[in-house]
Amino acid sequence: MDRLKGKVAVITGAASGIGRATAIKFAGEGAAVVIADLNIEGGESAVRDCKENAGRAVFQKTDVSAEAEIKTLIARAITEFGRLDIIYNNAGIGGAVGPLEKISVEDWDRSQAVLLRGVFLGMKHAAPEMRKVGGGSIISTASVAGIRGFASLHAYCAAKAGVVNLTRSAALEFAKDKIRVNCICPGGINTPILHRNQPGVKEAMEQWMAKSQPIPRAGHPEDIAGMALYLASDDSEFVTGQAMVVDGGLTIGSQFSQAAATQDSPSPIAPSTFMGPSFQG
Ligand SMILES: NC(=O)c1ccc[n+]([C@@H]2O[C@H](COP(=O)([O-])OP(=O)(O)OC[C@H]3O[C@@H](n4cnc5c(N)ncnc54)[C@H](O)[C@@H]3O)[C@@H](O)[C@H]2O)c1
Repeated sequence: MDRLKGKVAVITGAASGIGRATAIKFAGEGAAVVIADLNIEGGESAVRDCKENAGRAVFQKTDVSAEAEIKTLIARAITEFGRLDIIYNNAGIGGAVGPLEKISVEDWDRSQAVLLRGVFLGMKHAAPEMRKVGGGSIISTASVAGIRGFASLHAYCAAKAGVVNLTRSAALEFAKDKIRVNCICPGGINTPILHRNQPGVKEAMEQWMAKSQPIPRAGHPEDIAGMALYLASDDSEFVTGQAMVVDGGLTIGSQFSQAAATQDSPSPIAPSTFMGPSFQG
């Protein structure tokens, strides 16, 4: 219950999905939370949810791609709660999608500004405050799209790979200050970023993810909030520079095998109990 007692956390993109679930979890573990997002209504309702969980929370409207707004966000944490121990750089968008040759420079740059510059700015302005209190934990949301390719998601894949490696370089620089830097690579998590609040899509996603991942259910925001709590807490004090994959097994391999064949998708390989030299058939 008190794994973050006395700590102060800033969480971006906390009006919805993963950020919101993490804010509620952190508040329930004793942290004071600054909820940052573009979405005012969602941010204010997330504050109410944190308070219902007996937590302390405030909302600061923030565009993570704007340096002045990140500075104001960090200053709000200090004026409101007196210190900063944790930042979770989590805000995100799908960004430019579709064939590479059709992506405009403007859409490419807008994608990188939110997904990668936003993380850099969070690190840049949180670190000095963490140094003042003898250390801290910087967490960012990357993605499995940062460690493998996904068709039609070029800008997103590039930005998330950038988050993974920025995590490593920043961790090297900040280790001497006892500031740990890690990121989380979620797999398919059923949040509005995927279904954009369109009717029926959330339910359809739930079923599709259950079929397409080794652990046969959709990922939920709480799955990522649990990892964020571990990285924020002292339980992970010897962990830095890592990309923690939380994906129900999505990236561990292919189900292309005889054993994984189902009635819906039978294997073209004849059944056997042992596969010997291929020339023997
Ligand atoms: N849902 C998934 O399957 C999945 C998988 C891998 C990674 N992620 C990443 O997880 C993070 C959280 O996404 P989510 O799935 O909870 O989606 P979500 O849409 O529910 O939440 C994202 C939040 O970010 C906010 N946001 C967007 N642009 C912003 C900006 N410029 N400044 C401030 N806030 C902004 C949105 O308003 C929203 O509240 C994102 O970085 C996303 O890329 C999601």
